[in-house]
Amino acid sequence: MRLEELRIEYQAKPIGLDVRKPRFSWIIASDEKNVLQTAYSILVTKDGETVWNTGRVDSNSSVLVEYQGIELEPCSLYNVLVEVWDNKGNQSCIESYFETGLLKGTNLKADWITHNFEAEEQACPVFVKEFKTEKEIDTVRVYATALGVYEIKINGEKIGDTYFAPGWTNYKKRLQYQTYKADGMLKEDNKIEITIGNGWYKGIFGFMCTPNIYGDRVAALAEIHINYVDGTKEIIGTDESWKVTTGAIRSSEIYMGETIDSCYIEDEVSDVQLFSFDKNIIVGQESEPVRITERLSAKEFIVTPKGERLIDFGQNITGFVEVKVKGTVGQKITIKHAEVLDKDGNFYPETLRQAVSHDVYICNGEEQTFIPHFTFHGFRYICIEGLEEIKLENFTACAMHTHMEQTGSFTCSNPLVNQLQSNIQWSQRDNFLDIPTDCPQRDERLGWTGDAQVFAATAAYNHNVALFFTKWLRDLASEQTKELGVPHVIPNILGAQEGASAWSDAATIIPWVIYQTYGDVRILEDQYESMKGWVDFITSRCGENGLWQTGFQYGDWLALDKEESADRTGATDKYLVANAYYAYSTDIVRKAAKILNKNEDAKIYDELYEKIKIAFNDEYITKTGRMVSETQTGCVVALHFDLAEEKYRERIVSALATNIANHKNHLSTGFVGTPYICHALSDNNLHDLAGTIFLQEDYPSWLYSVKKGATTIWERWNSILPNGDFDVSGMNSLNHYAYGSIGEWMYKRLAGINALEPGYKKILIKPEFIKGINSVSATFKSVHGEIKSAWICKDKCIKVDIEIPANTTAIVYLPEQENPIEIGSGSYHYEYVTETSLEKERFSMDTKLEEIMNEPIAVQIFTQYAPQMLDNPMIKLVYQNTLAEVLSSAPDIQPLFQMVVDTLNKSYKSE
Ligand code: BGC
Repeated sequence: MRLEELRIEYQAKPIGLDVRKPRFSWIIASDEKNVLQTAYSILVTKDGETVWNTGRVDSNSSVLVEYQGIELEPCSLYNVLVEVWDNKGNQSCIESYFETGLLKGTNLKADWITHNFEAEEQACPVFVKEFKTEKEIDTVRVYATALGVYEIKINGEKIGDTYFAPGWTNYKKRLQYQTYKADGMLKEDNKIEITIGNGWYKGIFGFMCTPNIYGDRVAALAEIHINYVDGTKEIIGTDESWKVTTGAIRSSEIYMGETIDSCYIEDEVSDVQLFSFDKNIIVGQESEPVRITERLSAKEFIVTPKGERLIDFGQNITGFVEVKVKGTVGQKITIKHAEVLDKDGNFYPETLRQAVSHDVYICNGEEQTFIPHFTFHGFRYICIEGLEEIKLENFTACAMHTHMEQTGSFTCSNPLVNQLQSNIQWSQRDNFLDIPTDCPQRDERLGWTGDAQVFAATAAYNHNVALFFTKWLRDLASEQTKELGVPHVIPNILGAQEGASAWSDAATIIPWVIYQTYGDVRILEDQYESMKGWVDFITSRCGENGLWQTGFQYGDWLALDKEESADRTGATDKYLVANAYYAYSTDIVRKAAKILNKNEDAKIYDELYEKIKIAFNDEYITKTGRMVSETQTGCVVALHFDLAEEKYRERIVSALATNIANHKNHLSTGFVGTPYICHALSDNNLHDLAGTIFLQEDYPSWLYSVKKGATTIWERWNSILPNGDFDVSGMNSLNHYAYGSIGEWMYKRLAGINALEPGYKKILIKPEFIKGINSVSATFKSVHGEIKSAWICKDKCIKVDIEIPANTTAIVYLPEQENPIEIGSGSYHYEYVTETSLEKERFSMDTKLEEIMNEPIAVQIFTQYAPQMLDNPMIKLVYQNTLAEVLSSAPDIQPLFQMVVDTLNKSYKSE
């Protein structure tokens, strides 16, 4: 047994940690099976002195164990030693450390400084300080923040490898500072430069392209802490002695791009001005920083029919392009960005709307490498102007996002599905840039709560999003009010507006996802008032019938069942959706109250939940079990949120199946129905139908966009039409993760990886086959360690490989086997032959339709058994249409016909 990882607040060896009671998590690895932790001990020391020693604690907790020692001091190094004992008589230990940050914003004693430039000055100010050091230096830390986005150089070299600090928070109430290790960067004579771009603070932002949202003046606050070898310490902080100038960055805006003039001769320096900004709102960096996480080489040089000269990077990303060039003095090179080419192969930047996204570089005659500093673009293609010779090796696309750890992988036998998974993961990376944005390219890039809410569960499979959402949820809570509830975007730059369902429900759903995924109770404690506040807000809007039926709603945003009209909110009754979420959020709050031992609240929200359910049934389901909105999404939410009374469920399932069949086995759902439709089908004995709609390749479907060459998830099912035209509604992003929310179903149902207890302390492995996929292999790195589920169904045989991390247990349902198996940690291999697997193999989607038609047995069993199958709503439906009708509508009948044959064949076999 060995300890593989020791994390402190989810991080390995964090510095600048601003958490007073950090939590420790470790991962146990072992070659033995059924390993459980029996005890641990944690020793935390500072300068060799013990500050916390738990001694040996008999416990199986290995995740998020909270520090209970002497109060932590700021800017201090703490060593941590964890020792663990297991049930096999082994013992092992692991060491790590963390360094605290300032622990309080007001511990920053330096002054806020700003400039006094003319209002029309576009260039980024550079704050400068020169100083000498005389003694031998041990360590150097820089604590810094800004109003705007900043970069610090010490003696010409950038400190850290991060971008867009201090990140985007609700600057009215919360501003992060960052801690940098700058050991070895100081000399005797030193120059510090802090350059500030407008960023989110002062920059043009929102679809109205509004400038100065938080303030009209950027400012800096920084301290360089120099610890000398002799034990003394000196702090160089921003103050009146600093100077300010402008440099090569002549303008920079997130939406518009950046202009760098490397011929520019530095301005005269001028005095800085002191600036006042509340230090009480300053907090340490809360999530991982934004970094360049991948560098993509140029794939192809293209000259378009219009004569534009482009480079294709093969992948839609967020970031910028690094350009290597040796131009003449004053030569101007412009890099324009776009996600896509139009159907004639020309550059198509329309999806960016008003976000110009041009980076402009003015050369100085030498070999130069240009990157912008304070802007990012959503693009796959660049268009280059002002450069004669274009060599692919001189262009590198830098993909950037919050540097979350990748935790999930999913591959299967279907290459289109693998591309879909890649698209989901890329859209997540591209849009998790400090906040969860709707899209990374157009004049928006806002923290739309609805998008984040529907995608959160999928996101938590793909990457560790605990810190990312912890930070953003704090902003959500800080923007929430009793009067208006939770805003639609966080941070809120859209102004006062009442909360809307599915969007504002991010307040309850996302903390719940984080709790379930990581076993993180603190997020429930921290967000509890916000969660409860959101439900209370809805209650305050309810009428006498106990339902929320007033005010603006997004409904089933972008659903196809009404999109032809100007209305983007879909056909499902908006208040049906609102009340479904009301119940769902209340359910979460009552569960959270129980976990937090808030017994009185638990009772109140229990009762409220039951009341909403009754009111929902009264209002939206007739006494005969018919949904008032018999749309796919209407049925899906009633089923998935477990709202419909038991006696109505069958009819609702059948209505859902009918609706899907009427859409020729395609979905018509929007933001609300899409994440749940396959779950609702799989949970209600229609897993095959879930598989059918999941694997559709024509419009509308997930794989339609894949077949159209998408490398990220589109905002709309029809962002690009079958004939290659674009949706021209003025809202058409090709990088919008909301519909990527199918990822959760892929991990849960196809790979079968589920948490039975928060943090995957107990795991459920339950893969379920669908026709058209013969093998799946998925991993998920839980907080306890990596879980693996892989299966293959081939040559009349099912093989399953499972890995369960130490200190957890699992219940396994092998595919197509009746009884569950309970297992402990370790690697397991199962191999077996079943009748059903043979059928699946024979009638898999890979099998051509002709083959089925050539099977005389298929026709025979159809005629023989069809009448008996009339009780099955699906078959009834197909049967009623008559076989002839079904067949005449070829080629769309393939899945339907196959389903009939398959189901009948199953019954034939079981005779
Ligand atoms: C965004 C969406 C968002 C929606 C809400 C759009 O402009 O891109 O994804 O949720 O507005 O109206």
